[in-house]
Amino acid sequence: MSKKVLVSGGAGYIGSHVTVELMAAGYEVVVADNLSNCDLTCFEGVKKITGRDDIPFYQIDCCDYVSVDKVFTEHKIDAVIHFAAFKAVGESVSEPIKYYSNNLVSFLNILEAAKNHGGCNVLFSSSATVYGEAKDLPVTEQTPRMPAMSPYGNTKTMCEDILRDVVYATSTQDAVIKGIALRYFNPIGAHPSALIGELPRGVPNNLVPYITQTAIGKRECLSIFGNDYPTEDGTCLRDFIDVTDLAKAHVAAVARMFEGRMKKGYEIFNVGTGRPVSVYELVTKFEQVSGVKLDYKFVARREGDVMALWADPTFANRELGWKAERTIEETLASAWAWEKHLAE
Ligand code: WQD
Repeated sequence: MSKKVLVSGGAGYIGSHVTVELMAAGYEVVVADNLSNCDLTCFEGVKKITGRDDIPFYQIDCCDYVSVDKVFTEHKIDAVIHFAAFKAVGESVSEPIKYYSNNLVSFLNILEAAKNHGGCNVLFSSSATVYGEAKDLPVTEQTPRMPAMSPYGNTKTMCEDILRDVVYATSTQDAVIKGIALRYFNPIGAHPSALIGELPRGVPNNLVPYITQTAIGKRECLSIFGNDYPTEDGTCLRDFIDVTDLAKAHVAAVARMFEGRMKKGYEIFNVGTGRPVSVYELVTKFEQVSGVKLDYKFVARREGDVMALWADPTFANRELGWKAERTIEETLASAWAWEKHLAE
C-alpha cells in the first residue's frame, strides 16, 4: 500500500508543487489548507496536472487542534509536510503576535496530533533566512544560524528547534516522530504546465512576481532595492531555485524517511542550487527570456535585506540524491508563462 502524506498549506505556492511531485512519485496525498493566503486556483491546477479529482481536501485552520486531529483520525498519515504558515516578512514586523501565534500554534498542533496518533515523519519547511547575514559563503548546514531579522524568520528558527526537541523526546517514547527541516533559498518559477504557480495577494513582496507583474502591465515599474552593495553589479546576490526542483527535494526527503535512511532522528538540508545570481542579472535574463523590456529603477536598499546568500547544497546532493536541475532561463520562462496564463 502506498504511503500517505499530509501536506498542510497544500493549496499554496510551494505546497501545490510538492503535492504534484509526491503524486507523481506514487504517494497518496491529503491536502489541508485554510485558504487564508490563496484560493483554490492552484488546487484545481493540481487536479488537472495529476488527472486526479479525488485528492482529499480539508479546508481547516491548523491552529484549531480539533480540525487537525480529525484529519489524523480519518487518514493513517505516514508523513506530514508542513507549509501552513504566514510568510510576509514586512507584515511580521508590524504584526508579530499574528505571526508567532499562527506559525507556532499550527506547527505545535501538527506535532501533537502526530504524537497522539502513534507518531510519524514530519518535514518542516524552513528557510535560508535562519542564516541571516552569513560571514562565509556559501552556507552549509553547519553555518551558525544568526538572530532572525524578523518575527517571520524567528518563527522558522523556533519551529526548527521545536521539531528537534520533539524528535529527541519521542525517540524514547512509544509514538516516535522523526524530522527533517529543509532550508529553502529563493523559490521561483512555476510548473511547466503553467497550471500552478505563485499567486501573491496585493502588491508582491518577492522579486519574481514583481517582475512578471510589471512585464504584463499590472505594475508600472520595478524598484530594484539597492545598487550600491559591494557586489559586482552593486545589487544583492541570491540563490534562486526552481519550485519544481524544490518540490522534488521534498519527495527525496520523505523517501529517505520512509526507507529508513536517516542518519539521525532530526536532519537539516539546504535546498538551493549553489549558484549565486544578482538581482540585476535576474532582471536582464528575464528580459532576454520573455522578450519584454522591463521598466525598472534603482532605489534605496530595502531594510532587512542581506547582501548575499547562497547555498552549498553538497550535503543534500549527496544524502538525498537530489540536485537542482533547471536553468535560471527555464525557470524564468515558466514564471512568465504562468503570469500570461493568469492574464488569459
Ligand atoms: C530578493 C532580492 C530584494 C523585490 C524572502 C524572505 C525569505 C524567503 C524568500 C519566504 C532582494 C530584491 C525584491 C523588489 C527588489 N521566504 N527585490 N525589488 O528577501 O531574498 O527572501 O523570500 O517566504 O525568508 O526573506 O526574497 O524575492 O523578496 O528579494 O529589488 O520589488 O530582490 O531586495 O535583494 P528575499 P525577495
